Amino acid sequence: MTNAPNRRSAPPATSHDGAPRPSPWVTSVDTVFPHHANPLGTIFGGRVLELLDVNSAIACFRFARTQVVTASTEPVDFRNPVYVGEILEVASRVAWTGRTSMIVRCEVTGENPYTGERRLCTMGHLNFVALDADGRPTPVPPLLVESDEERAHWAEGERVRAAILRRREPAG
Ligand SMILES: CC(C)(COP(=O)(O)OP(=O)(O)OC[C@H]1O[C@@H](n2cnc3c(N)ncnc32)[C@H](O)[C@@H]1OP(=O)(O)O)[C@@H](O)C(=O)NCCC(=O)NCCS
Repeated sequence: MTNAPNRRSAPPATSHDGAPRPSPWVTSVDTVFPHHANPLGTIFGGRVLELLDVNSAIACFRFARTQVVTASTEPVDFRNPVYVGEILEVASRVAWTGRTSMIVRCEVTGENPYTGERRLCTMGHLNFVALDADGRPTPVPPLLVESDEERAHWAEGERVRAAILRRREPAG
């Protein structure tokens, strides 16, 4: 997703003082309509990716308070299907920060609306880059990492980052 409000409404990129900032979960709730389903009656992967992209961009926007663009989609595992009529909850938070990039952890939970039974259906990472008012990469604040969960997310983010760098190495 390119999270760039039109030029007229776009505020200038906010500078930050270098103090670490937290990234609380951003959660959105949806339901699965038939037009988003495959012939098996479960949601299309592409629809899940769209929801992840929007939700993660909001997590980055709230964290960095700048425009952001999706730079890469990192491994996203579809572990369980979500069925038509079920509640789908998307949760994202910035898990790792580089100089101008942020790796976001995303989780999708499916919920049976009648029983309340919940299961983790999709889990993955997306990578965003913060942009200044001229559309150039701009530094992001450092991430505040305090809890055991945040440390575990950071460690996974580091592994995702290492894979990105390996992939970008010139072949030779
Ligand atoms: C992402 C983008 C802004 C990077 O621009 P760039 O000039 O290559 O930026 P740089 O080389 O200075 O790198 C900036 C950061 O992006 C990261 N990055 C650049 N290309 C990347 C890629 N292909 N995959 C993952 N990360 C990437 C770099 O690692 C760096 O992170 P760091 O500052 O934390 O170390 C640019 O490639 C772009 O605009 N892409 C299109 C984005 C878009 O349209 N997204 C929506 C698609 S649907």
